[in-house]
Amino acid sequence: MAFESDYVWMEGKMVPFNEAKVHFLTSSLHYGTGVFEGIRAYSTPNGPAVFRLKDHLKRLIKSTQVLGMSELQYSIDEIYNATMELVRLNKMEECYIRPLVYIKEGGWNLTVDGVTIDLSIAVWKWTNYLGQEALRRGVRANVSSFPRHHPNIMMTKAKVAGNYVNSVLAKTESLRAGFDEAILLDPYGYVSECTGENIFLVRDGIIYTPHRYGVLEGITRDSIIKVAEDKGYKIVEEQISRDQLYIADEVFVTGTASEVIALREIDNRKIGEGSMGPVCADLQETYSKVIHGQDKKYEKWLDHIYKDGTAEAREAV
Ligand SMILES: Cc1ncc(COP(=O)(O)O)c(C=O)c1O
Repeated sequence: MAFESDYVWMEGKMVPFNEAKVHFLTSSLHYGTGVFEGIRAYSTPNGPAVFRLKDHLKRLIKSTQVLGMSELQYSIDEIYNATMELVRLNKMEECYIRPLVYIKEGGWNLTVDGVTIDLSIAVWKWTNYLGQEALRRGVRANVSSFPRHHPNIMMTKAKVAGNYVNSVLAKTESLRAGFDEAILLDPYGYVSECTGENIFLVRDGIIYTPHRYGVLEGITRDSIIKVAEDKGYKIVEEQISRDQLYIADEVFVTGTASEVIALREIDNRKIGEGSMGPVCADLQETYSKVIHGQDKKYEKWLDHIYKDGTAEAREAV
């Protein structure tokens, strides 16, 4: 199995991979009432490190709040320690980390009241979602026939499992039509985000991105905005139309899974020169240094798995 590891942290303890099971009659499986996070650990000169772990865990807790779940029985510090221990125990150097909060008992009457919730965390070896070629060349996208959720219908700030049916519909349609990724418009017809990424465009050196009211507040989006501002780029958050994408000099997307990827073509229209543009290339390169611990300025975003530093030091212990 592609997702295999030695251990899964399940409901408070480490269990062997094959024992990490939930029952078929788990209501979250039927109604999509789980909330999750997508986090990554990268190798750095000082051993593996998790990128912005606390920020992801804060968003996980906020997602439970948005869904109206009762308070989780684990503190952020406990989930943080469990995650770090899990990466260590599975001897991962670079991996994807997936915590999921779900209803363990109850929930059949379509409410999150009177239920028992719990949390499990898995890690698996992972490199790139859209592939190395995509990082270098950019990808081709279409504007989906499926609009993004109205914020008052599915609560776009929360990573609720059920929300992702919308992404699955759009991505499936996009891949079947021969594209690599889908861009979703909001219910008013303006650009919102992709199936698992936030979106940016560049025009005359200025970077534009949709307001955050209707999109997931991406942690990569936030990192890229900070990095870009530090580099002196101007960032504008505003309503963006579909044709603003067509006439942009560059369009790129950001997400934990994809990192920073250019959209070189949208709806069969070449964007800019039809390849990754200079602003995207600049931010992609810096982001890669940041996540791999090669930029001291952003070291604060990395939590090192081994406090004693390098892989050599570990072996010597
Ligand atoms: C719908 C959606 N938008 C944006 C993102 C990007 O968020 P992040 O940068 O925190 O991974 C994701 C991925 O989690 C997502 O699923």
